Formats: sequence, C-alpha cells, structure tokens
Amino acid sequence: MIAKLCPFPLSPEGEKRIDHLLNRYPDKRSALLQVLHVVQDEHGGYLDMDCIKYVARLFGLPPAEVYSVASFYTMYNLRPVGKYLIQVCTNISCSVNGAEEIVAHIEKRLGIKRGETTPDGKFTLITVECLGSCGTPPAMMVNKEYHEQLTPEKVDKVLDACE
Ligand code: FES
Repeated sequence: MIAKLCPFPLSPEGEKRIDHLLNRYPDKRSALLQVLHVVQDEHGGYLDMDCIKYVARLFGLPPAEVYSVASFYTMYNLRPVGKYLIQVCTNISCSVNGAEEIVAHIEKRLGIKRGETTPDGKFTLITVECLGSCGTPPAMMVNKEYHEQLTPEKVDKVLDACE
C-alpha cells in the first residue's frame, strides 16, 4: 500500500524505511519529519505537491499541515535541486569568519548566484541560517556531508571531487 499510493516509483528500500517508520512510534505523527526525508531522498532530493499529498495520505493529515511542516525547515527542498546541494551557513559565527567570501568564491566558480542551480543540473547553491558547526566556521554541507573551517582552497577540493 505504501508503494501503491506513491505518485512516483518508490524503491523497495524506500518502502521498507517508510513502513518501519510508520510502525515505530505509538503515535505515527512522530515519524513525519523522517518520512519526509525518505520521500525527498527517493524523489531526487525535493518534495513537490504530489509528494506532500502522498505523505499526508500516509499520515491521515490534511496536505496543508504536511506542507506547513515541510516549508518550515530548510532541510526540505520544495523545488528541484542539483545533484549536489551546497548549503553554506551565513549566520553570525560563520559570517565573521569568512562565510561571505566562501559564498562569493562558489558563485564565481560555478557561475551561479545563491538560490540557483547550474545549467547542467549538477550544483545548487543556497545559504542557510546555522548548520550547528558554529565552533568550526565557516561551514557548509554538500548533500549530507559536512565541511568545516573552509577556505577557498578547501572548497575547491570539495567541488573538484564532485566534478
Ligand atoms: S553559525 Fe555557522 S554553523 Fe552555526
């Protein structure tokens, strides 16, 4: 039923993860954030309205409620992103330690501004409020990997590895 309701092909592993999460807590709503992550992973890194409606159906919730959760957190993408999602923290600790320089370096290297995706669909660059690495600034995430105490040279090495 989990895979049948899904508006896109769900992998057997994704179905297993969702099934496990839906049965893990006494109140299945506790699994909402985690299920949104699984659906996002399975749907190429973002959630569209069909994904939101699907999750709403799984939880017996109004789609507006699921959308309000997904739109609150920056870790959910509500539009398509590149293969590599680069999130640079520009909050205070990172800012005073060169985050803007890092953002400018990435923008120049990739030829895009923050919020944009490269024409080949490979990279999306966004800035976020805090990655929880305030003690090792400036910090960024590329997909699920953390990179800290960044310099332009370090950023180049990370991006080279993605090319
Ligand atoms: S301020 Fe940048 S990780 Fe917290």
